[in-house]
Amino acid sequence: FPRQILTGTRVTITAGPTREAIDPVRYISNHSSGKMGYAIAEAARDAGAEVTLISGPVNLPTPERVKRIDVVSAQDMYAASMNALIQTDIFIATAAVADFRVENSHNQKIKKQHNSSGAMTLTLVENPDIVAAVAKHSPKPFTVGFAAETQDVENYARQKIQRKGLDMIVANDVSRTDIGFNSDQNAVTVIWPEGQQPLELASKAQIARDLVTLISAHYKKAR
Ligand code: C5P
Repeated sequence: FPRQILTGTRVTITAGPTREAIDPVRYISNHSSGKMGYAIAEAARDAGAEVTLISGPVNLPTPERVKRIDVVSAQDMYAASMNALIQTDIFIATAAVADFRVENSHNQKIKKQHNSSGAMTLTLVENPDIVAAVAKHSPKPFTVGFAAETQDVENYARQKIQRKGLDMIVANDVSRTDIGFNSDQNAVTVIWPEGQQPLELASKAQIARDLVTLISAHYKKAR
């Protein structure tokens, strides 16, 4: 693994899930472990980069010599990401951001209503798309997204590159049970406008090193 390829480069990575409050004790979230993003943070650091890790709530130790910024909600992650942009050359969005948040989250714990219909309605509103906003920013960092798909993986991933204005996308087939979310292994296809490359089943640490090598090569070509 080439240890100096990102020396002098500032890399910002989002990782983990976000948590959207319903009331002070309840939230909407997902099963993202943060492992892939944390592995990329370590690989980018080992390649010589200055790494900022914007992390949702996860059970992982902070990698050594990485600046970690903890956030909870998608709106917090959005704000932290925008703040980091002035010091970012490469932005890698691995976070599983909640697509929706509760419109009016309650300040007090919601009580069970005993004399009502037995139903309860929460109104959800869309969260900002962080990586799409990053890619629209000027100057734009080299922007890498992830795409979890269950079918027609390459096709949907290419549409996502276009829609979000990305330089590169890392596509996972999440219908496979041996990889993804809480697993220590992964297999992905890395896709950019003019080409693609599969990274076969390997540890997330190995996938992360291969990804950092590919991202670095394309980042340098784009500059
Ligand atoms: O649209 P979809 O959620 O499938 O896109 C996944 C990619 O977009 C990931 O890189 C994820 O981190 C990013 N994303 C984001 N903000 C959102 C939703 C997704 O940065 N609100």
